[in-house]
Amino acid sequence: MPPKKQFWDTLAKRYPHFNTPSMSKDVQEILAWTKEQGIAYEPQSTLLDIGSGTGTFSIPLALLHVKVTAIDPSANMLAILEEDARNEGVIERIKTHQSDWDTFDVPRPYDIVLASMTPAIHDTFTIDKMIDASSKQGVFVSWGSYRLNPFVDALLQAHRPNELFSQTGSIKAQDVMARLDTKNCSYSSKCFETQWSDVYSFEEAKEYAKEQLERRSIVPDFARIEKLLQELVSDERIEISTKAEKVIVVWQHKPR
Ligand SMILES: C[S@@+](CC[C@H](N)C(=O)[O-])C[C@H]1O[C@@H](n2cnc3c(N)ncnc32)[C@H](O)[C@@H]1O
Repeated sequence: MPPKKQFWDTLAKRYPHFNTPSMSKDVQEILAWTKEQGIAYEPQSTLLDIGSGTGTFSIPLALLHVKVTAIDPSANMLAILEEDARNEGVIERIKTHQSDWDTFDVPRPYDIVLASMTPAIHDTFTIDKMIDASSKQGVFVSWGSYRLNPFVDALLQAHRPNELFSQTGSIKAQDVMARLDTKNCSYSSKCFETQWSDVYSFEEAKEYAKEQLERRSIVPDFARIEKLLQELVSDERIEISTKAEKVIVVWQHKPR
Protein backbone atom coordinates (compact mmCIF):
# COMPACT_ATOMS: atom_id res chain seq x y z
CA MET A 1 0.00 0.00 0.00
CA PRO A 2 1.51 3.44 -0.89
CA PRO A 3 2.52 5.54 2.15
CA LYS A 4 -0.01 8.17 3.22
CA LYS A 5 0.08 11.94 2.63
CA GLN A 6 1.03 12.51 6.30
CA PHE A 7 4.19 10.45 5.71
CA TRP A 8 5.30 12.74 2.84
CA ASP A 9 4.42 15.89 4.76
CA THR A 10 6.66 14.71 7.61
CA LEU A 11 9.41 13.55 5.27
CA ALA A 12 9.44 16.92 3.46
CA LYS A 13 11.57 18.54 6.17
CA ARG A 14 14.46 16.16 5.49
CA TYR A 15 13.85 15.31 1.82
CA PRO A 16 16.72 16.54 -0.40
CA HIS A 17 16.30 19.85 -2.23
CA PHE A 18 17.10 20.30 -5.94
CA ASN A 19 20.63 21.45 -5.03
CA THR A 20 21.47 18.78 -2.41
CA PRO A 21 24.65 17.30 -3.96
CA SER A 22 23.70 13.58 -3.92
CA MET A 23 20.24 14.35 -5.41
CA SER A 24 21.53 16.86 -7.93
CA LYS A 25 24.10 14.32 -9.18
CA ASP A 26 21.32 11.76 -9.88
CA VAL A 27 19.04 14.35 -11.50
CA GLN A 28 21.82 15.63 -13.78
CA GLU A 29 22.69 12.05 -14.77
CA ILE A 30 19.02 11.33 -15.55
CA LEU A 31 18.55 14.56 -17.52
CA ALA A 32 21.76 13.96 -19.53
CA TRP A 33 20.86 10.36 -20.43
CA THR A 34 17.22 11.11 -21.28
CA LYS A 35 18.35 14.02 -23.46
CA GLU A 36 20.70 11.65 -25.30
CA GLN A 37 17.66 9.42 -25.88
CA GLY A 38 15.87 12.33 -27.57
CA ILE A 39 13.81 13.88 -24.77
CA ALA A 40 13.53 17.52 -25.83
CA TYR A 41 13.79 19.75 -22.76
CA GLU A 42 13.45 22.81 -25.01
CA PRO A 43 12.69 26.36 -23.82
CA GLN A 44 8.89 26.87 -23.76
CA SER A 45 8.16 23.12 -23.99
CA THR A 46 5.56 22.00 -21.45
CA LEU A 47 6.33 19.32 -18.88
CA LEU A 48 4.20 17.65 -16.22
CA ASP A 49 6.17 16.55 -13.13
CA ILE A 50 4.04 13.95 -11.28
CA GLY A 51 4.90 13.65 -7.57
CA SER A 52 7.33 16.55 -7.87
CA GLY A 53 8.31 16.58 -4.19
CA THR A 54 10.63 19.47 -3.35
CA GLY A 55 11.23 20.24 -7.03
CA THR A 56 14.31 18.09 -7.55
CA PHE A 57 13.44 17.95 -11.29
CA SER A 58 11.01 20.87 -11.63
CA ILE A 59 13.59 23.49 -10.64
CA PRO A 60 16.51 22.29 -12.84
CA LEU A 61 14.03 22.04 -15.75
CA ALA A 62 12.62 25.51 -15.11
CA LEU A 63 16.22 26.76 -15.12
CA LEU A 64 16.35 25.38 -18.71
CA HIS A 65 13.23 27.52 -19.46
CA VAL A 66 10.90 24.52 -19.64
CA LYS A 67 7.32 25.41 -18.56
CA VAL A 68 6.68 23.03 -15.68
CA THR A 69 3.45 21.89 -14.04
CA ALA A 70 4.32 20.23 -10.71
CA ILE A 71 1.71 18.16 -8.90
CA ASP A 72 2.03 16.64 -5.46
CA PRO A 73 -0.46 15.98 -2.62
CA SER A 74 1.99 17.16 0.05
CA ALA A 75 1.63 20.85 0.94
CA ASN A 76 5.00 20.74 2.74
CA MET A 77 6.84 19.39 -0.31
CA LEU A 78 5.24 22.03 -2.55
CA ALA A 79 6.06 24.81 -0.07
CA ILE A 80 9.77 23.90 -0.30
CA LEU A 81 9.57 23.70 -4.12
CA GLU A 82 7.98 27.15 -4.29
CA GLU A 83 10.47 28.74 -1.89
CA ASP A 84 13.49 27.30 -3.78
CA ALA A 85 11.95 28.26 -7.15
CA ARG A 86 11.43 31.82 -5.89
CA ASN A 87 15.05 31.98 -4.69
CA GLU A 88 16.25 30.75 -8.10
CA GLY A 89 14.07 33.27 -9.94
CA VAL A 90 12.08 30.56 -11.79
CA ILE A 91 8.76 30.62 -9.91
CA GLU A 92 7.04 32.13 -12.99
CA ARG A 93 7.91 29.00 -14.96
CA ILE A 94 6.43 26.51 -12.48
CA LYS A 95 2.71 26.00 -11.80
CA THR A 96 2.05 23.89 -8.73
CA HIS A 97 -1.09 21.87 -7.93
CA GLN A 98 -1.66 20.18 -4.61
CA SER A 99 -3.25 16.97 -5.87
CA ASP A 100 -2.98 13.19 -6.05
CA TRP A 101 -2.23 11.85 -9.50
CA ASP A 102 -5.32 9.59 -9.46
CA THR A 103 -7.66 12.58 -9.27
CA PHE A 104 -5.68 15.26 -11.15
CA ASP A 105 -7.60 16.50 -14.18
CA VAL A 106 -5.08 16.64 -17.05
CA PRO A 107 -6.12 19.79 -18.93
CA ARG A 108 -4.30 18.99 -22.21
CA PRO A 109 -1.45 16.72 -23.29
CA TYR A 110 1.96 18.03 -22.20
CA ASP A 111 5.05 17.85 -24.44
CA ILE A 112 6.78 15.72 -21.79
CA VAL A 113 5.50 13.80 -18.78
CA LEU A 114 7.94 12.87 -15.99
CA ALA A 115 7.40 10.78 -12.84
CA SER A 116 10.36 10.06 -10.60
CA MET A 117 10.46 7.90 -7.47
CA THR A 118 6.81 8.44 -6.70
CA PRO A 119 4.07 6.13 -5.42
CA ALA A 120 1.72 8.22 -7.59
CA ILE A 121 2.39 5.56 -10.25
CA HIS A 122 1.13 2.45 -8.52
CA ASP A 123 -1.24 0.48 -10.80
CA THR A 124 -2.37 0.09 -14.41
CA PHE A 125 -4.72 3.09 -14.20
CA THR A 126 -2.01 5.46 -12.94
CA ILE A 127 0.59 4.11 -15.42
CA ASP A 128 -1.80 4.53 -18.37
CA LYS A 129 -2.81 8.00 -17.20
CA MET A 130 0.90 8.96 -17.04
CA ILE A 131 1.62 7.64 -20.55
CA ASP A 132 -1.48 9.40 -21.97
CA ALA A 133 -0.63 12.74 -20.30
CA SER A 134 1.81 13.44 -23.15
CA SER A 135 1.23 12.82 -26.83
CA LYS A 136 4.99 12.96 -27.41
CA GLN A 137 7.47 11.82 -24.76
CA GLY A 138 7.82 10.54 -21.21
CA VAL A 139 10.34 9.73 -18.48
CA PHE A 140 9.79 7.34 -15.57
CA VAL A 141 12.31 6.73 -12.76
CA SER A 142 11.97 4.14 -10.00
CA TRP A 143 13.97 1.92 -7.70
CA GLY A 144 15.75 -0.91 -9.50
CA SER A 145 16.53 -4.38 -8.24
CA TYR A 146 18.12 -3.45 -4.90
CA ARG A 147 18.12 -0.87 -2.16
CA LEU A 148 20.63 -1.60 0.61
CA ASN A 149 20.27 0.14 3.94
CA PRO A 150 21.87 -1.93 6.72
CA PHE A 151 20.12 0.11 9.43
CA VAL A 152 16.63 -0.48 7.98
CA ASP A 153 17.47 -4.17 7.51
CA ALA A 154 18.47 -4.46 11.19
CA LEU A 155 15.38 -2.52 12.26
CA LEU A 156 13.03 -4.83 10.33
CA GLN A 157 14.90 -7.90 11.51
CA ALA A 158 14.55 -6.71 15.14
CA HIS A 159 10.78 -6.23 14.75
CA ARG A 160 9.80 -9.08 12.38
CA PRO A 161 12.65 -11.63 12.42
CA ASN A 162 10.75 -14.16 10.30
CA GLU A 163 9.60 -11.90 7.47
CA LEU A 164 11.29 -11.01 4.21
CA PHE A 165 10.88 -7.37 3.23
CA SER A 166 11.50 -5.74 -0.12
CA GLN A 167 13.20 -2.38 0.35
CA THR A 168 12.17 -1.24 -3.09
CA GLY A 169 8.48 -2.06 -2.94
CA SER A 170 7.30 0.43 -5.56
CA ILE A 171 5.98 -0.20 -9.05
CA LYS A 172 8.56 -1.82 -11.29
CA ALA A 173 9.90 -0.31 -14.48
CA GLN A 174 8.86 -3.60 -16.17
CA ASP A 175 5.20 -2.79 -15.41
CA VAL A 176 5.58 0.56 -17.17
CA MET A 177 7.36 -1.04 -20.15
CA ALA A 178 4.59 -3.67 -20.42
CA ARG A 179 2.00 -0.87 -20.72
CA LEU A 180 4.20 1.00 -23.27
CA ASP A 181 4.15 -2.19 -25.39
CA THR A 182 0.36 -1.97 -25.56
CA LYS A 183 0.34 1.72 -26.53
CA ASN A 184 2.43 1.92 -29.69
CA CYS A 185 5.38 3.60 -27.91
CA SER A 186 9.07 2.99 -28.48
CA TYR A 187 11.17 3.02 -25.31
CA SER A 188 14.59 2.41 -23.82
CA SER A 189 15.80 1.94 -20.25
CA LYS A 190 18.92 2.18 -18.19
CA CYS A 191 19.94 1.25 -14.60
CA PHE A 192 22.45 3.12 -12.49
CA GLU A 193 23.71 2.93 -8.93
CA THR A 194 23.26 5.72 -6.44
CA GLN A 195 24.21 6.20 -2.80
CA TRP A 196 23.75 8.74 -0.06
CA SER A 197 24.18 9.18 3.71
CA ASP A 198 22.08 11.09 6.19
CA VAL A 199 23.38 12.22 9.58
CA TYR A 200 20.86 12.34 12.43
CA SER A 201 20.75 13.21 16.11
CA PHE A 202 19.61 10.34 18.35
CA GLU A 203 16.05 11.74 18.47
CA GLU A 204 15.93 12.32 14.70
CA ALA A 205 17.16 8.77 14.07
CA LYS A 206 14.41 7.47 16.36
CA GLU A 207 11.87 9.42 14.29
CA TYR A 208 13.37 8.03 11.06
CA ALA A 209 13.12 4.48 12.47
CA LYS A 210 9.50 5.08 13.49
CA GLU A 211 8.62 6.33 9.97
CA GLN A 212 10.32 3.35 8.32
CA LEU A 213 8.32 0.94 10.48
CA GLU A 214 5.00 2.75 10.26
CA ARG A 215 5.15 2.98 6.46
CA ARG A 216 5.28 -0.86 6.54
CA SER A 217 2.44 -0.96 9.09
CA ILE A 218 4.74 -2.21 11.90
CA VAL A 219 4.24 -0.83 15.43
CA PRO A 220 7.59 0.60 16.63
CA ASP A 221 9.18 -1.00 19.69
CA PHE A 222 11.19 1.94 21.06
CA ALA A 223 13.30 -0.20 23.42
CA ARG A 224 14.54 -2.19 20.38
CA ILE A 225 15.05 0.94 18.32
CA GLU A 226 17.10 2.61 21.07
CA LYS A 227 19.24 -0.53 21.53
CA LEU A 228 20.04 -0.55 17.80
CA LEU A 229 20.80 3.16 17.75
CA GLN A 230 23.09 2.91 20.80
CA GLU A 231 25.32 0.60 18.75
CA LEU A 232 25.58 3.16 15.95
CA VAL A 233 25.92 6.45 17.79
CA SER A 234 29.25 8.24 17.50
CA ASP A 235 29.87 11.82 18.73
CA GLU A 236 26.12 12.00 19.43
CA ARG A 237 25.44 11.57 15.69
CA ILE A 238 24.15 8.61 13.72
CA GLU A 239 25.00 8.14 10.06
CA ILE A 240 22.58 6.07 7.98
CA SER A 241 23.70 5.11 4.48
CA THR A 242 21.77 3.77 1.54
CA LYS A 243 23.03 2.28 -1.72
CA ALA A 244 20.47 1.54 -4.39
CA GLU A 245 19.83 0.94 -8.04
CA LYS A 246 17.57 3.30 -9.96
CA VAL A 247 15.97 2.56 -13.34
CA ILE A 248 15.11 5.15 -15.97
CA VAL A 249 12.59 4.47 -18.74
CA VAL A 250 12.08 6.95 -21.61
CA TRP A 251 9.48 6.64 -24.34
CA GLN A 252 8.21 8.37 -27.45
CA HIS A 253 4.76 7.96 -28.94
CA LYS A 254 5.19 6.73 -32.52
CA PRO A 255 3.55 8.89 -35.18
CA ARG A 256 0.08 7.58 -36.10
C1 LIG B 1 10.27 10.18 -3.07
S1 LIG B 1 9.38 11.66 -3.45
C2 LIG B 1 9.97 11.96 -5.10
C3 LIG B 1 10.13 13.41 -5.40
C4 LIG B 1 10.77 13.72 -6.74
N1 LIG B 1 9.95 13.30 -7.85
C5 LIG B 1 12.14 13.09 -6.83
O1 LIG B 1 12.38 12.21 -7.70
O2 LIG B 1 13.02 13.48 -6.04
C6 LIG B 1 7.76 11.06 -3.75
C7 LIG B 1 6.73 12.18 -3.94
O3 LIG B 1 5.54 11.60 -4.45
C8 LIG B 1 4.45 12.28 -3.84
N2 LIG B 1 3.25 11.42 -3.90
C9 LIG B 1 2.88 10.43 -3.06
N3 LIG B 1 1.70 9.90 -3.45
C10 LIG B 1 1.32 10.59 -4.55
C11 LIG B 1 0.17 10.52 -5.41
N4 LIG B 1 -0.79 9.62 -5.20
N5 LIG B 1 0.08 11.40 -6.43
C12 LIG B 1 1.07 12.32 -6.66
N6 LIG B 1 2.19 12.40 -5.89
C13 LIG B 1 2.31 11.55 -4.86
C14 LIG B 1 4.92 12.52 -2.41
O4 LIG B 1 4.16 13.52 -1.76
C15 LIG B 1 6.37 12.87 -2.63
O5 LIG B 1 6.55 14.26 -2.74
